[in-house]
Amino acid sequence: MEKYLGKKNIAIFISGRGSNLKSLIKYSKKKKSLFKIILVISNNTKADGLKYATKSNIKNFGIKYRSKSYFENRSLKLLKQQNLDLLCLAGFMKILSYSFIRKFSKPILNIHPSLLPKYKGLNTHLKALRNNDKFAGASVHKVNQKLDSGKIILQKKVKILKKDNIKSLEKKVLKIEHEIYPKAIEKFLTSL
Ligand code: GRF
Repeated sequence: MEKYLGKKNIAIFISGRGSNLKSLIKYSKKKKSLFKIILVISNNTKADGLKYATKSNIKNFGIKYRSKSYFENRSLKLLKQQNLDLLCLAGFMKILSYSFIRKFSKPILNIHPSLLPKYKGLNTHLKALRNNDKFAGASVHKVNQKLDSGKIILQKKVKILKKDNIKSLEKKVLKIEHEIYPKAIEKFLTSL
């Protein structure tokens, strides 16, 4: 890594609850953290995560998803006003266009609730249970133009027990998400 000078600036995109955002904010406040969160954007103006960002004194915006291009153009403007090193998607439920990825020009990471490359897209826990998988898990990966397909930065697995259902599995995997996302961000930042 280049000589490390202060914390790296990151922006986060969310769509709702924002538990990953919350865990990232908590982690970023630690002295040892290599990053700080300076901007949060949601495509859902009522997202709970926005309230938490406000409480944490982080600049945040809810942008109505009138269309993909409307949302992406508004977001790009806000992102370009900041000196960002990285954008992280955390429970962001929209697919970014290739044009956005190109125009933003900085790296983008995403967290996905499965052991990629297994189960891209939605309903990952249902798919793992239906296939009688022994393990579920979470993956942090780079975002490219193909859904949930960029280079994997970090993964962690968790055992699926006989008694597990979608709800219990979701809970277990979410706990892992909160654990690995800050680690993955730091791993990625130190590899730049
Ligand atoms: C997480 O499981 C995330 O991986 C998925 O959606 C969920 C969002 O959770 N894409 P939260 O908004 O971070 O609480």
